[in-house]
Amino acid sequence: MAAELGATAALTPHSGRGAASQPHQGRLPRHVAVIMDGNGRWAARRGLPRVEGHRRGVEALRRAVRIAGEAGISYLTIYAFSAENWSRPQGEIADLMGLLKRFIRKDLAELAKNNVRVRVIGDRAGLSPDIVGLLDEAETSTAGNDGLVLVVAFNYGGRQEIVRAARALAERVARGELAAEAIDEATFAGALDTRGIPDPDLVIRTSGEVRVSNFLPWQCAYAEYVFLQELWPDFDAEIFAAALAEYARRERRFGGLGEGPSGSGAP
Ligand code: IPE
Ligand code: IPE
Ligand code: MG
Repeated sequence: MAAELGATAALTPHSGRGAASQPHQGRLPRHVAVIMDGNGRWAARRGLPRVEGHRRGVEALRRAVRIAGEAGISYLTIYAFSAENWSRPQGEIADLMGLLKRFIRKDLAELAKNNVRVRVIGDRAGLSPDIVGLLDEAETSTAGNDGLVLVVAFNYGGRQEIVRAARALAERVARGELAAEAIDEATFAGALDTRGIPDPDLVIRTSGEVRVSNFLPWQCAYAEYVFLQELWPDFDAEIFAAALAEYARRERRFGGLGEGPSGSGAP
């Protein structure tokens, strides 16, 4: 059944601006994670400063949140600032911090009104107190919502997250609260920033770069990746729909034999 529906979606990969707002014909990912890349190149192509690309990137983010909610996606994770982005020039870092603050101050009420629940992942140590305060406020003021979960990866690095989780578990073992033998995948996942959030089904990266850049390495062990040529500020409903259609065409096997003719028969 699901394979049939997937095939239907495959016939309509660019089915127009409204496509992402309808319940998807094929398999709709429960959790979409996005590496929002290409803001700087978008600006450079227009002879504009990089910060203008980041500003337009925030507008694309607003569109993405709206479309994800309308499409019935349950979780949208966005890579907003990586642990490695500290290596950028101070001025650009300040611009990005300023944009995050403005986004939360300006959009939080709207997100709350739209029943969006905000979660923040990444290392809050090393962030300025005003940023930490805003991130906390975004989480606490939307904690009671049960619509789209918007997971903001800020000062996030996957390896760093795994190390923090390992350290937290080691401390519990050292205190005698946890037996080392009791650590399994579920325990480990529960020590990550993403605890309680299902793994991403689909990861979208814009701008033509084909790499993971330390984004959710544990959680995306079995995710489907869609790499798009478009730059993040250009992201819109049509591009989102095309990525969802590509996902619907994929056959997820998880190490098994899948649903195709060779996989549906006898064991
Ligand atoms: C993505 O755009 C935004 C962040 C990484 C914060 P970039 O700033 O990486 O844009 P490019 O890759 O230089 O075009
Ligand atoms: C990944 O983009 C990080 C974010 C989108 C926040 P980058 O532009 O920083 O990634 P690299 O450096 O090209 O791998
Ligand atoms: Mg980039």
